[in-house]
Amino acid sequence: MDLRSHIRALPKAELHLHLEGAIDPELMMRLAVRNNVDIPFRSADEIRAACRFTRLQDFLDLYHQGMTVLRAEEDYFELTAAYLERVAADGAVHVEVFFDPQGHTARGIPFATAADGILAALADGRERLGITSLLIMNVWRDLSEDDGFAAFRHAEPYVADRRIAGLGLDSTEIDHPPAKFERLYAAAREAGLRLVAHAGEEGPASYVAEAVDRLAVDRIDHGNRALDDPALVRRLAERGMTLTVCPLSNLRLGVVPDLQRHPLKRMLDAGLKATVNSDDPAYFGGYLLDNFVAVTEALELEWADLVTLARNSIEGSFLDDSARTAHLERIDRVVAADG
Ligand code: HPA
Ligand code: ZN
Repeated sequence: MDLRSHIRALPKAELHLHLEGAIDPELMMRLAVRNNVDIPFRSADEIRAACRFTRLQDFLDLYHQGMTVLRAEEDYFELTAAYLERVAADGAVHVEVFFDPQGHTARGIPFATAADGILAALADGRERLGITSLLIMNVWRDLSEDDGFAAFRHAEPYVADRRIAGLGLDSTEIDHPPAKFERLYAAAREAGLRLVAHAGEEGPASYVAEAVDRLAVDRIDHGNRALDDPALVRRLAERGMTLTVCPLSNLRLGVVPDLQRHPLKRMLDAGLKATVNSDDPAYFGGYLLDNFVAVTEALELEWADLVTLARNSIEGSFLDDSARTAHLERIDRVVAADG
């Protein structure tokens, strides 16, 4: 079996995926026309040509513009359904997806329009594709904590019955340390949400430590820069903290100079529970399986590493114990059959 098919056959979860980052150029063009939204591109190729970034902010500018094509509940449904089809074909059995409610409510789109469209597609994906899923709302760290609280209030009915399972933190990292959101995270924890935060993508190792110590996160999104602090690495390893690492995103945003120097293997060797994810696949040139294949080739990962990555993704998920065990047993069966 070739490498790609081999990795595809390994059951795995995607834990770091921004739905607004999964609007493929063709879908963006189609929705722009359907909703009469002005975007500065005349073709999908022009959008692809614009996907040249030197740092996080370059990408965020395009990402913010791209999400304006989403207006109706069916747009959110279509986007989510297309992503699920794609990631299921990559061998994902579970996904935990982010959305950015402030990117929609600020344009006058009700929170419920976005959330209901996404949730309907996730339910459809469970039925049609057998893929389990959870929804996490992210708040933009370059906005105020009060703005984050307003988003959290919009989410209240969805939090109450766990249609929204978690809270995360994304957007411009530098100058917006996790501690800025300490009160919001305390409230979310009180409400029973699971907690994640982007940290150590462009920001320093101290932001990773702050997310752990001040926000009490259950997972770190990215976490690359944690490697600058060996004492922190030991602490993360001892706690079994999951890192949702995004190789092609890191390459495209200049977080790593090339994939050969990507820290994923060093993370695994240091005992960190790293996982592989696509982040914003429509913008970074690859979905989940593309990320696995690219980093496997660049770092010469072995089958044992790939099995560890797949296991980490299930173990680091927010599934309940019985669902988690069922997915882990699927991995065991594939590994056993593989010899
Ligand atoms: N980092 C920060 N914010 C984001 C990202 C990211 O990789 N993707 C979407 N929003
Ligand atoms: Zn991200």
